[in-house]
Amino acid sequence: MRLPAIILFPVMLSCCLSAVADNAAYIHFDGDALASGRTLWLENCEGCHGYGVAGAPIPMQADEWKQRVTKDRQVLYGHAINGFFGPDDTMMPERGGNPELSDEQVKRAVDYMVELATYYIRQQSNQSK
Ligand code: HEC
Repeated sequence: MRLPAIILFPVMLSCCLSAVADNAAYIHFDGDALASGRTLWLENCEGCHGYGVAGAPIPMQADEWKQRVTKDRQVLYGHAINGFFGPDDTMMPERGGNPELSDEQVKRAVDYMVELATYYIRQQSNQSK
């Protein structure tokens, strides 16, 4: 059966416009590694980190990441790969709860999240000038 285009068009438009609006905060950065990091992050990490679920720090909130981005990148990788209990007793689960992810994939997702957080930290400090 072929639906008339006049019916399909508004449906398609509303679907895709809202998807774009939802993701606008998740900046695209240059480079293949960050592009794949973004995809991995959306699939495995955004469910908590996008909204602060379970106390997960949100990369769009500069204050939640200011201290964390100063940690050594290897420390952040280790916490994401092996899991981590923070001082407030909030828990980052091992590999974000997906045992299928390789170390390399988790690191790419961390790199994307750090890049995103750094972007928002810079934006905040520009605004306060
Ligand atoms: C079930 C929710 C949840 C998911 C899913 C999740 N995280 Fe987290 N993550 C947390 C919480 C909560 C913290 C804060 C832990 C703390 O510092 O107290 C955190 C903290 C972190 C930190 C900062 C660690 C530090 O030393 O400050 C990194 C990096 C991180 N997560 C990476 C990831 C990556 C990469 C993924 C996806 C592969 C992911 N997380 C998925 C809940 C989650």
